[in-house]
Amino acid sequence: MTTQQIVLASRPKGIPTTDNFRFENVELDEMKEDEITVEGLFYSVDPYMRGRMNDAKSYVAPFKIDEPLDGAVVAKVTASKSGNFKPGDVITGRLYWQQKTITNGKESHKIDTNVAPASYYLGILGMTGLTAYFGLLDIGKPKAGETIVISGAAGAVGTVVGQIAKIYGCSVIGIAGSDKKIKMLKEDFGFDEVINYKTTKNIKEAIVQCCPKGVDIYFDNVGGEISDAVITNINFNSRIVLCGQISLYNNTEVPVGPRLQPMLLTRSVLMQGFIIGNYANRFQEGTERLAQWVKEGKLKYTETILHGFDKLPTALLGLFKGENTGKMIVEA
Ligand SMILES: NC(=O)c1ccc[n+]([C@@H]2O[C@H](COP(=O)([O-])OP(=O)(O)OC[C@H]3O[C@@H](n4cnc5c(N)ncnc54)[C@H](OP(=O)(O)O)[C@@H]3O)[C@@H](O)[C@H]2O)c1
Repeated sequence: MTTQQIVLASRPKGIPTTDNFRFENVELDEMKEDEITVEGLFYSVDPYMRGRMNDAKSYVAPFKIDEPLDGAVVAKVTASKSGNFKPGDVITGRLYWQQKTITNGKESHKIDTNVAPASYYLGILGMTGLTAYFGLLDIGKPKAGETIVISGAAGAVGTVVGQIAKIYGCSVIGIAGSDKKIKMLKEDFGFDEVINYKTTKNIKEAIVQCCPKGVDIYFDNVGGEISDAVITNINFNSRIVLCGQISLYNNTEVPVGPRLQPMLLTRSVLMQGFIIGNYANRFQEGTERLAQWVKEGKLKYTETILHGFDKLPTALLGLFKGENTGKMIVEA
């Protein structure tokens, strides 16, 4: 059986381009005992994949040159020699960027598309929803009446963080990159205020205006100068959730920022980084709670879907240009 795959053609220096990827046709081996054949339906693109394009040691192995990329995929089982899956099952797991794949299914699990549409398992009921849930509740520890600031607010993680913070009774301030995103966050997602970081000259001053009682929780998705501006307004005993630093992922050199440690020290601030894999043994709890909120209409959800397997590189690069609202997905 022949299928198409996308391999890493070269490692980017700075901002990646579509030239860093290559499409290839490959012949798949025969399906063996305990294996299944799956066809990709929805593919997730995520900012962490940029780190995997570098040849650098991190919490996930780098992509290899001339080998297919991989990531979270929702796929349909088309043939099975496994007792665990039957044709027609819809599964999610870490799979290659291939249209068809033969796998033992050990790193995949079945999903129930009656609970939610299949693509939700790559977003609100998948990695990004769980990141919002555990990052906010475990590290941010929101309390009613507190003020939270969220950078990258209109993205997959940010939209969910803001709504959960609202459920917990917080005043929610977002930071995002377009007026359209700002309108959506305020009108559809219940954010109290949203700052457009691309048009606001003094973000530090805008935070003061939007947060008259200061910032109790900062959920940081972007890092860099936006975070410097938020952190100067941080309150005594506040929490900084270090979730992502997307503004730095394409940098070839790490920029030097202001020294924030004295401020953190004198204001007894907790700043904690995390990776979602730390919470693997609690994923079921998180998914059930998120699914319940979705069912009750307490969590709204939005996704940007590009159509066609060939759109995968473009979708990934689009994350760094703010081309997505909510979760960026490619539908095959
Ligand atoms: N710790 C973990 O385990 C974990 C898990 C998932 C995600 N993350 C991190 O969480 C963050 C959000 O991830 P996501 O999946 O929800 O992505 P996302 O927010 O859906 O997409 C990325 C967004 O980042 C914004 N952005 C891009 N470049 C920027 C820049 N230079 N400065 C400021 N904003 C920029 C863009 O929105 P604008 O239009 O607003 O610029 C873009 O839409 C990322 O940093 C990611 O690495 C961490």
